[in-house]
Amino acid sequence: MSKETITKIEIEKAATSKINDVDFNNLSFGSIFSDHMFVCDYKNGSWQTPKIIPYQKLMLDPSARVFHYGQAVFEGMKAYKDDEDGIWLFRPDENFLRINKSSKRLAIPEFPEEYFFDGLNTLLKLDNKWIKKGFGNSLYIRPFVIATEAGVSASPSSEYKFMIICSPAQSYYGGEVRVKIADHYSRAASGGFGFAKAAGNYAGQFYPTNIAKEEGFQQVIWTDANTHEYLEEAGTMNVFFRIGDKLVTCPISDRILDGVTRKSVITMAKDLNIEVEVRPIKVAEVLEANKNGTLKEIFGSGTAAVINPIAGFGYKGDKWELPKIENSYAKKIKEAIMDIQYNKAEDKFGWRI
Ligand code: COI
Repeated sequence: MSKETITKIEIEKAATSKINDVDFNNLSFGSIFSDHMFVCDYKNGSWQTPKIIPYQKLMLDPSARVFHYGQAVFEGMKAYKDDEDGIWLFRPDENFLRINKSSKRLAIPEFPEEYFFDGLNTLLKLDNKWIKKGFGNSLYIRPFVIATEAGVSASPSSEYKFMIICSPAQSYYGGEVRVKIADHYSRAASGGFGFAKAAGNYAGQFYPTNIAKEEGFQQVIWTDANTHEYLEEAGTMNVFFRIGDKLVTCPISDRILDGVTRKSVITMAKDLNIEVEVRPIKVAEVLEANKNGTLKEIFGSGTAAVINPIAGFGYKGDKWELPKIENSYAKKIKEAIMDIQYNKAEDKFGWRI
């Protein structure tokens, strides 16, 4: 986190800090926010002077486009603190590129790189105390853009707010996750915007995920919308299957989020001499591997979740538990990635900034 700040940012500091009211050992993901937030408005065809102000509520017109047409995209990143108080980001350039890719697909103007990094670095310096040391602790960073123009005409807004808010975090799914493989509902369609981190991609999952929760699962693994034969992603995580000694994950497409942790897992696994196959993977193949004992592990990857082992899965009313495994790939890869994130290992891929 060492880029020089060149953007002129207006800064209004919070009069008091809320930090002493926070129990950092008992955090529920994304429920508490740090003292400041970054805000930059878009109007009259350009991004205005960025500001950092005390974390506060927004005042928006009830007819603002975001409320009616869902013109909103976001990112998920984390800041880590090492034992010497150094602050690190993990592949932040990827998040910057992706938020603009998402924005473009939703007809939102792209955000300037310099504003993004200068805003983020200044915000993290101000709220530095909110980044706690210790493996697993981090400050979850949520950049997002919303359409703020008043008026319910179904057309792209001419005004937007780009913001960054930060929330101290431990792990996302504090434990074992069981997933339901979708056989009816879909998350994304070809030609759609499944690849974008768009608010609507998440809203559309809540109802089918609630049904899955009633059946004892925490998440859904989405399958392709046309045939429901191919496994895609888990909505908040990309998914990996260990079949025999190989790790298999589906290729990204316009339906699937190009996860930063996903691509890091692929690189790290190869570096650990684990064979990785990026190819379409059928539900039938996983069911067969489960039957013949070659399905050893399933895990999800994502910024919030890092790498989350999946303990069991269900499909069309049947449920299976995966056997406990020694020498888990999920554990090995997670440790290797976290060692880089927390500055405990050499960063040979240049991921830590
Ligand atoms: C992330 O991993 O940052 C995500 O986007 C998941 C989030 C929806 C909780």
